[in-house]
Amino acid sequence: SFEQSLRPQSLKQYIGQDKVKENLEIFIKAARIREETLDHVLLYGPPGLGKTTLAAIIANEMGVNIRTTAGPAIERPGDLAAILTALEPGDVLFIDEIHRLPRSIEEVLYPAMEDFCLDIVIGKGPSARSVRLDLPPFTLVGATTRAGSLSAPLRDRFGVLSRLEYYTEEQLTDIVVRTAEVLDTSIDGKAAIEVARRSRGTPRIANRLLRRVRDFAQVKADGTVDEQLAKEALELLQVDRLGLDHIDHKLLRGIIEKFRGGPVGLETIAATIGEEAHTIEDVYEPYLLQIGFLQRTPRGRVVTDLVYRHFQMEVPAD
Ligand code: ADE
Repeated sequence: SFEQSLRPQSLKQYIGQDKVKENLEIFIKAARIREETLDHVLLYGPPGLGKTTLAAIIANEMGVNIRTTAGPAIERPGDLAAILTALEPGDVLFIDEIHRLPRSIEEVLYPAMEDFCLDIVIGKGPSARSVRLDLPPFTLVGATTRAGSLSAPLRDRFGVLSRLEYYTEEQLTDIVVRTAEVLDTSIDGKAAIEVARRSRGTPRIANRLLRRVRDFAQVKADGTVDEQLAKEALELLQVDRLGLDHIDHKLLRGIIEKFRGGPVGLETIAATIGEEAHTIEDVYEPYLLQIGFLQRTPRGRVVTDLVYRHFQMEVPAD
């Protein structure tokens, strides 16, 4: 699809995550030399950093098909059995949000990962019996925003654990320039840097902002994105100089105005600003922690002096 063509297809095209790429390149080469399947891979880190893209690249580089599903979509053992038995030898099975797999499913997954077999129970009551089914060898690629929420036995069955990091401004600039080429949009270097700078270290956000800035350029100018136009468009999109959006603002201002800067518990903040605690924890908090705007203490979340300065507010004396 069109969307698909935006995504890099190979490790060579994939910008950033150098450590992860370097390791995967070796593991993929080694598996190919031995003509074996790649060991199971767990990709973890904040949303939008390229876990799904990497899973597709792994399959591509291994020369196999990818089957994609998500933790919450697999409700019963039979759902998983249907997916596993339909795999072809060597295929990649990508399970997004793998931390949301029901426990009862995890137990079906263990022997599948370890021995490529499935223990299924046939019948009910005294006549029930367990049958062992052989599966084609496969590579499980799991993705999660929270490696800590995986059960230890599941985590231990992955041979490769890769943590994705926020991208640097330079890497995001390269991604914006690459995406602009794919979209056949002309953007100047300074405008690309401006979009990158406001993307919270996240390619998904960079590409989304680029599309919106491009809309603006098409309607308000001749279609070319220059620095001035990028700045104006980003202003209209309510993305501030650091890339913080209205929800980040609501979160930070809420802690300052209602809780004197904290500490305040996550559930309390969530209720106050009307956002899901999980969304705050998985999507908003990680970047605010990374840039030193928020701190987690045993008594709850605290905003730092940087936040007061960012909002041009007086830093409280205590
Ligand atoms: N598009 C989104 N993420 C990318 C990445 N890491 N490299 C290249 N293009 C991308």
